[in-house]
Amino acid sequence: MISTKKIIENIPNALKTVNISGLGKKTQGKVRDIYISKGKRVFITTDRQSAFDKVLGYIPFKGQVLTRLSVFWFEKTRDIVANHLISMPDPNVLIVKECKLIPIEMVVRGYITGVTDTSIWGSYEKGERVIYGIKFPEGLKKNQKLPENVITPTTKADFGLHDERLAEKDILKKKIVDPKIWKQMKKVTLALFERGQKICDKAGIILVDTKYEFGLDDKGKLILIDEMHTPDSSRYWIKKSYKDRLKKGLEPESYDKETLRIWFKDHGYKGEGKIPKMPLKFIAKMSSLYMEIYEKITGKKFTPDLTKNVSKRIKDNLMV
Ligand SMILES: Nc1ncnc2c1ncn2[C@@H]1O[C@H](COP(=O)(O)OP(=O)(O)OP(=O)(O)O)[C@@H](O)[C@H]1O
Ligand SMILES: [Mg+2]
Repeated sequence: MISTKKIIENIPNALKTVNISGLGKKTQGKVRDIYISKGKRVFITTDRQSAFDKVLGYIPFKGQVLTRLSVFWFEKTRDIVANHLISMPDPNVLIVKECKLIPIEMVVRGYITGVTDTSIWGSYEKGERVIYGIKFPEGLKKNQKLPENVITPTTKADFGLHDERLAEKDILKKKIVDPKIWKQMKKVTLALFERGQKICDKAGIILVDTKYEFGLDDKGKLILIDEMHTPDSSRYWIKKSYKDRLKKGLEPESYDKETLRIWFKDHGYKGEGKIPKMPLKFIAKMSSLYMEIYEKITGKKFTPDLTKNVSKRIKDNLMV
């Protein structure tokens, strides 16, 4: 972790995008720049900050945190399922195995919460008791722990569209994935999430929910891909204050991207129209939050690489 002053100094160096010729075909997600060649992906996590399905700005060192945190989790869960990680040649870059994407977001939840259309609390509050084909008991309160972890899959929407709910019967009926692989995906999802909950719990964090993506390698084997248990793909709450706040009817203290969503909502932005510009101080606050989360979960210090020209550093590290 570094001082606020140092973070602010580094805001102009945040990694917006990378253009490297000779690395293969480039594709772009909201957060990642990806080069595909010879069965491998050069998976570059930039400092782009997305929320409401839009890119809202740049947070220095966020790409480094997400990269290193994913590596931490991939190593901690390798015994449960194979993952796409091959190597980390640069603090923002993973070389991963190129897989055939299974177009399902495996969302898994330990608590009843959320605000969006795909959240379970939204439906439960309206009186629905069968959500995503799963039966929920009467009397649940917002933010309460569920009797058991549940999988609530969604589609992986194309660029610009929102993800939609998928019930298990539709996944099988539409033959989105082979039934045997689907069974394995469910089992692995619950095991990964339990492992994540245990490790976070020891660090004083509640892993509330998360999202996994899977793919198949060239032999048809199931592989965990994308990012893992990061503050972008998961919801974390602070364990220490959770019970007391639940009792008092207060929202739990979140320890993830929620702070950012709240800032944008407070500035009149909910995903449409002109994007408000984040002040330098707030950018620095988000940056230190990302670094702090890394330190808390892993128990290790986060010392960011402070190279000014990140694009050049990446090219040098990839030797292109
Ligand atoms: N090993 C892999 N093989 C094939 N595709 C992969 C692999 N790992 C990740 N992907 C895909 O690469 C993309 C990662 O880019 P990124 O996370 O920026 O996209 P996004 O999901 O559109 O954005 P956001 O994460 O903000 O929702 C995703 O589409 C993901 O499904
Ligand atoms: Mg993504």
